[in-house]
Amino acid sequence: MPENFNDRIAGYQARVDARLDAALPAAARAPERLHEAMRYAVFNGGKRVRPLLVYAAGECLGVDPDLLDAPAAAIELIHAFSLVHDDLPAMDDDELRRGKPTVHIAFDEATAILAADALVPLAFSVISRIEHRSADAINTLVALIADGCGSHGMTGGQSIDLASEGKTLAAAELEHMYSLKTGALIHAAVVSACILHDDLPADRFAALDAFGRDIGIAFQIKDDILDIEGETHVIGKPSGSDEKLAKATYPSLFGVGVSHRRCDELLASALASLELFGEGAAPLKWIARYIVERGR
Ligand code: IPE
Ligand code: IPE
Ligand code: MG
Ligand code: MG
Ligand code: MG
Repeated sequence: MPENFNDRIAGYQARVDARLDAALPAAARAPERLHEAMRYAVFNGGKRVRPLLVYAAGECLGVDPDLLDAPAAAIELIHAFSLVHDDLPAMDDDELRRGKPTVHIAFDEATAILAADALVPLAFSVISRIEHRSADAINTLVALIADGCGSHGMTGGQSIDLASEGKTLAAAELEHMYSLKTGALIHAAVVSACILHDDLPADRFAALDAFGRDIGIAFQIKDDILDIEGETHVIGKPSGSDEKLAKATYPSLFGVGVSHRRCDELLASALASLELFGEGAAPLKWIARYIVERGR
């Protein structure tokens, strides 16, 4: 086996893409336009960070990768749904995503809404088909992903994000919003591997739980920094979108320098949580660093 997680990333991305391809209805199947839009939303160049976190947490815990394909694909489907809705005119009104026209531009608004709607039940259908794990474990996974997606997770965070446009938030309020809109699904990706472990000691669960929370918030702060510092052709989405909408973001409220420092603090805290795993945590450490150092 190659030593570096970097060498295994393409393999993991291919694994999750194969599972996504198997789960998504063929574009030629009726209703064709809906299925085409669902596929467009999923196969348009995403980094697949959440699936990579599932596999890296699985490596850390020694969970069979065959078990991890389902949560990796399911969480990516929910993430794709969240992006399609996030870009709609009623929300962030963005026309570019992953360097291509957003789904409502490439198709139309109604199709974008419906394609995103259909990705959510598909995610749970993927989870319901997991084999070789108890019904209890599958139920726990369903609850984890449902909570990560719902009004106490991503959707709730998106609601706070919209309500916060033009407002000044305290750092704790802002991080609460980030922990929901972005953190909840990232945390669910890490914790899903814990659930698929047969018998995980409580201290190991607590460590990965804390790791998932820290990197989720760091991910959104970095996203906000890239919205300011990144170029549209590199980040694949319109640079300056947050400023245009007077979004309450870490850099807009506290400055870019403070935002970088907060990312570094969260990274240090995330890495410290992994200490008890020794070398086995190298893949998770790699992704944590990638999250705060990435250019897109
Ligand atoms: C973008 O997520 C939306 C946020 C939660 C900040 P990603 O940066 O993971 O987007 P893709 O999937 O790689 O396009
Ligand atoms: C979105 O945050 C988080 C989601 C839950 C989709 P942003 O609105 O900043 O994400 P981008 O920058 O459009 O990807
Ligand atoms: Mg948004
Ligand atoms: Mg957006
Ligand atoms: Mg953004």
